[in-house]
Amino acid sequence: MKIGFIGFGNIAQAMAQGLIEKHENITQQMYASSYNYEKLVRNTAKYGIHPCKTNQETVDNCDLVFICVKPYQVKDVLSELSLENKIIVSLVGGKYNQDYEEIIPGTHHIACIPNTAISVVEGVIVVEQTHTLTQEQLHTVHELLSTVAMLEYVETAKMNIATTISGCTPAYTAMYLEALGDAACKYGLTREVGYRLVAKMIEGTGKMARVTQKHPGILKDEVCSPKGTTIKGIASLEKDGFRGTIINAIDEVMK
Ligand SMILES: NC(=O)c1ccc[n+]([C@@H]2O[C@H](COP(=O)([O-])OP(=O)(O)OC[C@H]3O[C@@H](n4cnc5c(N)ncnc54)[C@H](OP(=O)(O)O)[C@@H]3O)[C@@H](O)[C@H]2O)c1
Repeated sequence: MKIGFIGFGNIAQAMAQGLIEKHENITQQMYASSYNYEKLVRNTAKYGIHPCKTNQETVDNCDLVFICVKPYQVKDVLSELSLENKIIVSLVGGKYNQDYEEIIPGTHHIACIPNTAISVVEGVIVVEQTHTLTQEQLHTVHELLSTVAMLEYVETAKMNIATTISGCTPAYTAMYLEALGDAACKYGLTREVGYRLVAKMIEGTGKMARVTQKHPGILKDEVCSPKGTTIKGIASLEKDGFRGTIINAIDEVMK
């Protein structure tokens, strides 16, 4: 199967990196187009992906096309393309089935919003349950994307909160990582060691939560012994409104 990218910025390259890591020789089957051709040639050369001069050239070369432009560009970019018999996979934040039905009616499209961890094949992709793919096309998309991410199928009304929780929070988690790295530095660890410890701790805690399906409160309690040191830190976090601060941040995004 040949895979195209319309727009080749951050999220397109994250997807390309993940797919390249999982599928040998896939770059020979990848095509991309963007706005600035010189920049595109530089970016695609890093991976060995074919640069295309126009978006239609990308479409014509491919069976499946990822839409990776900014939300406000989608209408202008897609309405001038001929997309018959192609699988259109939108990675665009906030653009869902109904938007595509208006812009490119009669085509086969699905909205799949990833986070940047797809680049290291540990991503989350929120997939809109409503789409216009055939069963066979859906199977193809599912099999391809499952190689770089956990897929979560969500009804349209819940797409915004699901994509906020999985898509925005890598930035918050990176801030948490940085803050713990600062604390590690304050008490004498090098930043390299501090960041390494914290990154693996975040990875492991996430894996424990997912694999054991224990309530997060239980995972917390398992680290806190009576009169121990961890519970003192928990009390301090509660006093400073740690959980409320996180919920407030999500409120800001959802406004
Ligand atoms: N970054 C994330 O974490 C993330 C996560 C989930 C979803 N998304 C979604 O992914 C989309 C892209 O975000 P991004 O962060 O990758 O942005 P980005 O790095 O700015 O990439 C946008 C790309 O669109 C290209 N472009 C502009 N006009 C075009 C046109 N007329 N035809 C074809 N390509 C054109 C740009 O080309 P030039 O560079 O040549 O201008 C650039 O390659 C957004 O809709 C966003 O909601 C992003």
